[in-house]
Amino acid sequence: MGNQHKYKFSTIILAAGQGTRMRSKLPKVLHKLTGQPMVCHVLDAVAPLKPDHTIVVIAPHMDSVKHVVLAKSPKAKLAVQQKQLGTGNAVASAMPALKAYPGMVLVLYGDTPMISTETINTLLTAHQKNKVAISLLGMQPHPPTGYGRLVMKTEPFVERIVEEKDATAAEKKITHVWAGVMAFDAAFLAKNLPKLKPSKATGEYYLTALIEMAAAQKLKTLMVSIAVDEAMGVNSRAQLADAEKIIQQRLRARAMENGATLIDPATVYLSADTKLGTDVVIHPHVVFGPGVSIADDVEIRSFCHIEGATVASQAIVGPYARLRPGTTVGQGAHVGNFVELKQTKLGKGAKANHLSYIGDADVGEDANIGAGTITCNYDGVANKYKTTIGKNASIGSNTSLVAPVMIGEGAMVGAGSVITVDVAKDAMAIARAPQINKTGKAKAFRLKKKK
Ligand code: UD1
Ligand code: MG
Repeated sequence: MGNQHKYKFSTIILAAGQGTRMRSKLPKVLHKLTGQPMVCHVLDAVAPLKPDHTIVVIAPHMDSVKHVVLAKSPKAKLAVQQKQLGTGNAVASAMPALKAYPGMVLVLYGDTPMISTETINTLLTAHQKNKVAISLLGMQPHPPTGYGRLVMKTEPFVERIVEEKDATAAEKKITHVWAGVMAFDAAFLAKNLPKLKPSKATGEYYLTALIEMAAAQKLKTLMVSIAVDEAMGVNSRAQLADAEKIIQQRLRARAMENGATLIDPATVYLSADTKLGTDVVIHPHVVFGPGVSIADDVEIRSFCHIEGATVASQAIVGPYARLRPGTTVGQGAHVGNFVELKQTKLGKGAKANHLSYIGDADVGEDANIGAGTITCNYDGVANKYKTTIGKNASIGSNTSLVAPVMIGEGAMVGAGSVITVDVAKDAMAIARAPQINKTGKAKAFRLKKKK
């Protein structure tokens, strides 16, 4: 697979539709699956095959889509479809960027995020081998509702695609549908796209109408069959949830194949980019947001939420821990229940075992953070300040560290302290009201009140 293939292609990804069926202010392709916008899944699937050009078609107001696409694929080109006149018109908007391109043109839909590199490779390989004008992926979902039906006299060759909105009752019964992935001979596409006519029923220029045009020119369209899981279209929130479920199952299977134990896989939510090492044990009910990397032999106990964090080998996290972006947990470190770390480096062997918020902090090796320790990192207006805790330092329970502040190596902070001034190496800081013990006072007080 990968870049060992022997074909030349460019890709056009359609993302200009608003996606009215999502009922959302957000453009459809920015809705997320496994924490990543749908359009990025499509970009990820095609990238390993190294297309000569990647052109993403957006609508004029879609700067948000443009930024997401360029962050993912800096080399991608954006084409603007001025009015959303249909998928054929959308592809036409991208053609100037391809000029007289000699290879194949692969059209992908930004709302078809399940597509894999392997499946795309299979389609392009079949296209090349069979020397057809068009090739496409077909599937048989139950029910086929919403998809374009494949009219085939002799399988696997397609005479035309009829959109559901335009289909007769008999055509609606066809079980093979188009999965939203199509490859064209570039010259055929360039020559025929300008000849597309709008659909009588909807006034839209359908990309699918090119198949009939090919047939009229005695050119063939080849169908390559795939499973529904590989290319379901996401047009509604319900389909988004169905897609999430399928992708989660794949990610869990991959994590287990790579040597992680998921005690109850169905309750573990992964992101597309979650990295789990070998002999990692994930207990039930753990959520991994984007940007997480877990090294070998780490144990993540139940009910953790982890995002943008790196955990080194042999660390133990949870139960009930929250690791927020910018966190690194050192080798063998422990993060216990109800501990939140944000933009924090917890050194090798350090422990924060109970009820703490540690933000914008650097905690040295083997330091111990007592229960209820809080880094007061925010000035309440605009600024965040840093807390530095040296190695082997010990912070007593229920301490507030008012940042910016530094606790030296091996220093100790007494429980209940509010620390506003730096503490030197090996010093002990106690910052709380001194205790007064009054002999017999309790008894006297009680007697007085009873009178
Ligand atoms: C489309 C296909 C249908 C196929 C299904 C697979 C057409 C006419 N229909 O239907 O045969 O079975 O996908 O999922 O192609 N878009 C634009 N500009 C437009 C219109 C759409 O860029 O003017 C983009 C959308 O952002 C989307 C994609 O094209 O990413 C498909 O559009 P959508 O409206 O979702 O088409 P479907 O009804 O799903
Ligand atoms: Mg769609």
